[in-house]
Formats: sequence, structure tokens, C-alpha cells
Amino acid sequence: MNNLKIFSGDLIMNIKTTTGKTLKILLALLFSVLIAGVAYAEDLPADPIQQDKLEAGKKVYFKRCVWCHGVEGGGDGPSHDRLFTKPRNFTQGTFKIRWTNSGELPRDQDLINTVTHGLTGSAMPPWGDFLKKEEIEAVVQFVKSLVQDREFDDEDETVEDVVTELGDNPWGVTGPYYHGIPQEAIDEGKKIMVANKCFECHGGEGAGDGNPTMKDDWGFPILAASWKECWNFRGARRNHFDPFNVARTVSTGLNGTPMPNFRDKISIEDRWKLAAFVNSLCPRKKIDRLTNKPIPDFLIASKYTKGEIVPKISDPMWQAPDHDPKIVDRAEDKSDHPRRNYIALAGQITIGERNFDPKSDNLWVSSRWNKDQGIYYLVEYDNRFLSTDPEYPEAVAIQWPAKLQDLFGAEKPYFIHGDSKKPVDLWKASLMPKDYSATNAPKEEGYQLDVTVEELNGNGYETLVAKDTEPTVKVVDAIYHQGRVKVMFQRALTTDGDMDVQIPAESFIPVAFMQWAGADKEKDEHMAISTWYYTILEPEVDTGHMLTMSFMMGGIFVGLQGWLVWMTNRTRKMYADGKVIQDERPF
Ligand code: HEC
Ligand code: HEC
Repeated sequence: MNNLKIFSGDLIMNIKTTTGKTLKILLALLFSVLIAGVAYAEDLPADPIQQDKLEAGKKVYFKRCVWCHGVEGGGDGPSHDRLFTKPRNFTQGTFKIRWTNSGELPRDQDLINTVTHGLTGSAMPPWGDFLKKEEIEAVVQFVKSLVQDREFDDEDETVEDVVTELGDNPWGVTGPYYHGIPQEAIDEGKKIMVANKCFECHGGEGAGDGNPTMKDDWGFPILAASWKECWNFRGARRNHFDPFNVARTVSTGLNGTPMPNFRDKISIEDRWKLAAFVNSLCPRKKIDRLTNKPIPDFLIASKYTKGEIVPKISDPMWQAPDHDPKIVDRAEDKSDHPRRNYIALAGQITIGERNFDPKSDNLWVSSRWNKDQGIYYLVEYDNRFLSTDPEYPEAVAIQWPAKLQDLFGAEKPYFIHGDSKKPVDLWKASLMPKDYSATNAPKEEGYQLDVTVEELNGNGYETLVAKDTEPTVKVVDAIYHQGRVKVMFQRALTTDGDMDVQIPAESFIPVAFMQWAGADKEKDEHMAISTWYYTILEPEVDTGHMLTMSFMMGGIFVGLQGWLVWMTNRTRKMYADGKVIQDERPF
């Protein structure tokens, strides 16, 4: 920055001694220099370590950070073992989220932002909620002192700010959802994505399913980000829908990962268009500040369908955007489709082999019903790669209270497979993709899935057993397409089985979901689970009844969100207390 200041100093002197006309010319010149990015393309010294803050920083570090990052910052604290993205080893001085050029050290402000907002999508918490500003500034200096292979004070360690030149987004759109980017910019962005082959790593539709074999600089497996889950971007800075985050990442690359820097290949204008495209893929949902994930949709309303329900996932009657219709109000969202509900999943960490690191953290569920054909649930979720090992199939299940009629008020069975007094009815689909290999380029039309349906009853985890009655649940269609698993369940509303849920119209029915990522060797209790949600069969004639019902659900919703916060905090605390057992990971 120093040089720039001197430069503008000269400029001001010139201005004082020249006429108005020259002034304009000079300003125009300065402007073009800025646009070309030359004024900022300077190497400046890295921010030196502020020695006076080290003592205070060390205290914070040993209280808050050591559990994951280790005594010497080697990324080997007691909780490191079960984490999928490992806590950073600070020794090499490699930092992902920066405003500096590829391979360079970060500025202090980059580290302060990281510690304040956390690295979403990883275990690195947002410390701004727990630590004072001064504590964060101090611990950042201590982290810098843990770097051994490089010296922040070394005059050879220069940094170049490659982000300031981006300026603000050219469309002037602002948060929280950054609406109003013209469609042409998004379409051009897609072309820029294709021309720069982002899909080789990020997959054809940005689900992060382009390459299963990448490693990071520390030798750990790493997967490209899913652009459909921008709340999991490390550099989201808790401003999840801001295209700036993408433009920044594309300009700097992510040190220590295969994610390259495209500063020399893509002009600033095009980087913004690319960012607009990437950003457009992320569903607009309200994000909860405590969990940094979308707030779940608490009520799955099953749409009453006059005429035939087409049991085909690709049928237009099942097409619906992932966006929250309250946030994105578009004509196509108003067609007569069931709402696609966001269901939050968390790793099962209560019993048996616990899952601290589930591969999927959400499902999307939509539903239709009528008297003749019964009820249909379309369950979808993103998972980059599927298992082809019959011992570890991909699987997803819907759980119901088996004896709904015996429950009073808001009573529900225990959410993990019920309890001795309140049994559950579980519909489970195990999935094997046909002609599939993860290293193949994803097929345009998707992969067909071989489905095995099981109907089980549970009276608690230990007592989960297959029913011996005639099968009643069907999976009518299933496909794996561009990183997304889609499974359509169907059943009659009522059955003869006395351990089957009998589904009434127009009343709230508890329903929960479970999911197993076979490719990550998830199986049995090593799974992702939801808490109880509610589903309701919409009345045949809309009487405004539903509105009143949704209103009544407010209380239940608060409880539900509480569960997610509780699960998140519990997992975080177990890490922080070093209670996460170090057992073998499949990777
Ligand atoms: C629960 C575990 C956990 C705790 C506690 C934790 N971190 Fe992290 N931290 C991580 C993980 C995991 C990553 C790596 C994420 C990634 O690479 O995507 C990380 C990465 C970092 C990075 C690298 C940022 C970058 O751009 O690459 C910094 C700096 C950092 N942590 C600082 C801290 C500080 C300071 C504390 C204490 C105030 C702390 N962390 C506490 C898990 C933790
Ligand atoms: C060689 C493989 C590769 C290519 C090519 C690639 N990426 Fe990435 N990208 C990655 C990986 C790996 C990550 C995840 C890094 C991590 O988890 O820390 C990533 C992460 C990202 C992220 C998330 C950043 C964050 O804050 O977490 C964005 C956005 C992104 N890439 C955009 C792009 C765009 C746009 C292109 C094309 C111009 C591109 N990538 C090309 C490998 C690649």
C-alpha cells in the first residue's frame, strides 16, 4: 500500500499545480490503472508478528484451540482423528482463505476473519460468538508464531492483495440473498465455468462430484466443494449467498488444496459472472446463525392430488426448486407442485458406533397423496459418490410411530428406533447404482439404482427387526443423477399389519429420517439421523385450514430448531473436551 500512497501523493501535488482539464486526465489515468489491477499488483511485506500480543494469545490458544490444533499447532490435538477435514497443521504456514496470491501467507485480517466467522462446513467454530475482539487479535498472533517453515517477519515473505481489485459486485446487489443479478450474467458465468473446466473437480452441476481421488497437501483425501451447499464453503464468512466469496476464492485459490487460482486466466469482469453462476446454484434458504446451516422446514405437507399421481421422479408434477418459495418468488415456483422441504440431519452420536462426521447433513422431501394411490414421499439428498460394495450399500429410511393411535398429544417414540412402550415402523431403501464407477464422468442421464426395500419395527435400537407380514411399502422410482440420490416411496394409507403406521388425513403425524453413506462405510447405527418432523395430508379442498395448522406448528418448530442447536453444540463440546474417541476411519 505504501507505494500507492506515494503515488497518490504525487498526484495531488500535480493536481494543485495544473488546470482542471489536466486533473480530469490524471484521474482518468489513475482510474484505468486501478481497473487494470496494476496499482494493487504490488508485493508488500507480510504482516510481522506482534510480539506484545503473544502472551495473551497463548492463553486463548491453550484454552480454546489446542484440542483440535495440538500443543505445537501440528493439527494433532486429541479430537483431530475423527474429523473429515482435519484441523489445520500450522507448521507449514499454509492457509486457505486469504486475500493474498496463491502460495502466499495470509494478512492478519484474513486470520482474524477466519477465527471470527469460523470455517463453515468444517469443525472450525466461529469464535466471534465466544471470544472478545482483542482475544481474537491476540490468538491470531500466537497462531502465526506456530508457523515453523516460514517467517512472517522475513523480508522475502511478500504478499500481494489480489482481491481489492475485484471491488464490489458490478450489479450492486446486496444481502442477505443477493437477488437481482441479471440472468445473462449467470448464463455467461456458466460458459466461463465450462471453458475453465471447473467441472473436472466440481462435477457437471456443481455437486462436488467430479473427482473422488484428490488429496490435500497434508496427504488427506479432499473433495471439491458442492456449490449447492454454499453454507459449507469455508470462506463463506457467514454471508453465505454473497458472490464476492466465490470471486475471492477464484482469485486466490485455496492454499494446500487442489483448488487453483484463476487470476491470470479469467478477467475481473468474468470472475464476477462466474461467481454469479456458482452462487445461483445455492438454494436460497434462511440460515441459522448458531448452526450455520439452513433452518429446517418443519412440516411436510402432502399435496392432495386430483387425478393420477405419476410415479416418476422426472415427471413435471414432481419438479420443484430447492429455494424457499418465500424468498425466491418466481413464476415457475408458483406451479402446482408440492413444496420441497429441507430436513436437517446430524450424526448419530448416542449409541454404539457413533458418527461424528456424517457425509450428508440434509435431505429434501416432498409428498403427494390421494385415496386411490395412497401416499408418495420423494426423498432426495446430495452425496458426491456412491458405494458399490454390497456390504455397505447407500441407504435411506423413513421412520414412523408404529402405533400412532396410541400416542397422546405431542407424544413420540424415542427418535432413534423407538422405545419399549412406543414402537416405530421403519421403511428402509438400500441402493446399488448400476454400471457405476465413481471415477467415471457422471452420466448425463444419471444412474439407475437397484433397490431393496425393508420394512422393520423397532422398540429401541437393540430390537430392530424385519416384519414378517406381507410387504406394503414400495420404492416406485429411484435414480442417482449429478451427485443427487432420489428415491420415491409409496404406500397405501392403511394396511392390515398391526405394526404398520396407519396414515390418517388432516392430522399431524410424526416422521423422521435416516441416511447411510455407503461410500463412507456408514452402516447400522453409524448413520445420519433427523429428529421427529411432522407430516400432514392436506385436505382435498383447501379451506384455509392448512394456514391455521401451520400457525399452530410454531411451538413445535421452536423445539425442532432447538434440537439442531443442541446436537451441534453437543458435538462441538465433545470435540472441545477431547471426548471424541479415536477409532479407525474408513478413509
Ligand atoms: C473443533 C476443532 C477446532 C477447534 C477447537 C479450533 N479449530 Fe481451527 N480449524 C479446525 C479445522 C477442522 C480447520 C481446517 C478446516 C479446513 O481446512 O477446511 C481449522 C483451521 C484453522 C485455521 C486455518 C484457516 C485457513 O484459512 O486455512 C486457523 C487460522 C484456525 N483454525 C485457528 C483456530 C483458532 C485460533 C482456534 C481457537 C480460538 C481454533 N482454530 C480452534 C478445527 C478447530
Ligand atoms: C483441480 C480441481 C479443482 C478445479 C479445477 C476447481 N476447483 Fe474449486 N475447489 C476444489 C477443491 C478440492 C475445493 C475444496 C477445498 C476445501 O475443501 O478446502 C474447492 C473449493 C471451491 C469453492 C469453495 C471455496 C470455499 O470457500 O470453501 C469454490 C467456490 C470453488 N472451488 C470454485 C471453483 C471454480 C469457479 C472453479 C473454476 C474456475 C474451480 N473451483 C475449479 C478443486 C477444484
